[in-house]
Amino acid sequence: MDAYLETERLRLRRFTGDDLELLAALDSDPEVMRFLTGQPTSRDEVGSVVLPRILEGYAAHPQLGTFKAEAPEGFIGWFGLQPTAEPRTVDVGYRLNRAAWGKGYATEGTRALIAKAFTELGMERVVADTMAVNHRSRDVMRRSGLRFEKLWHEHFDDPLPGTEFGEVLYALDRATWEADAHE
Ligand SMILES: CC(C)(COP(=O)(O)OP(=O)(O)OC[C@H]1O[C@@H](n2cnc3c(N)ncnc32)[C@H](O)[C@@H]1OP(=O)(O)O)[C@@H](O)C(=O)NCCC(=O)NCCS
Repeated sequence: MDAYLETERLRLRRFTGDDLELLAALDSDPEVMRFLTGQPTSRDEVGSVVLPRILEGYAAHPQLGTFKAEAPEGFIGWFGLQPTAEPRTVDVGYRLNRAAWGKGYATEGTRALIAKAFTELGMERVVADTMAVNHRSRDVMRRSGLRFEKLWHEHFDDPLPGTEFGEVLYALDRATWEADAHE
C-alpha cells in the first residue's frame, strides 16, 4: 500500500500482520508504557489484542487508524488518527521507541497528521489527551498547535502513579489552525 503520509523525515504506512515483532518490541519498554498502562505489554497480548485491533481499525475507518512510522534509521513507532464520539473530530496520538525521542519526530508527524485531518480528511477539530504528568506528550501537543482545553479527574480501580494530578485535553479547530498558518 502507498504511504498514508510522508514528511521530510517520516513515512507512515499501515501495519500488517507481519509487524508483530516491531510492535511487541515497542510495547515491551516500561518507559514507553509508563503513562499508558504503567507496565510492558506481553508479546502474547500484542499478538492477540493490540495488533488485531489496529488491523480491524483500518476496515472500520479506512481513512483513519494507527500507522507504522519509519525514519531514515528505520522503524521508530507509530502515529494515529482515531475517530471520536463527536462528528468531524479525530483524536491524534503517537508512541515512539526511546531511541527516537529528542529528535523532533513526534512533533513533525503530529503537525503533518493535523494538516491532513483539516485538508484531505475534511475534519473540523483535532483533539489529544494524556495524563497531566506526561509532560513530553503535552510538549508535543503544544508544539503541534493544539491548545490546552481542560483538566479533569477520572476514577481508576488500579491507578497509575500520577493519576492524582488528572488527565488533560488539548484541542485545535480548523479556523484556529488556518489562522495560525497565516501568522
Ligand atoms: C510522547 C513522545 C512521543 C515525545 O517524544 P519527544 O521526542 O519528546 O518529542 P519530539 O519528537 O517532539 O521531540 C522534541 C525534542 O527533540 C528535540 N529536537 C532535536 N532535533 C529536533 C528537530 N530537528 N526538530 C524539532 N525538535 C528537535 C527538541 O529540542 C526536543 O527536545 P527536549 O525533549 O529536550 O525538549 C515520546 O516521549 C513517547 O513516545 N512516549 C511514550 C508514549 C506516550 O506517552 N505517548 C503519548 C501518550 S498520550
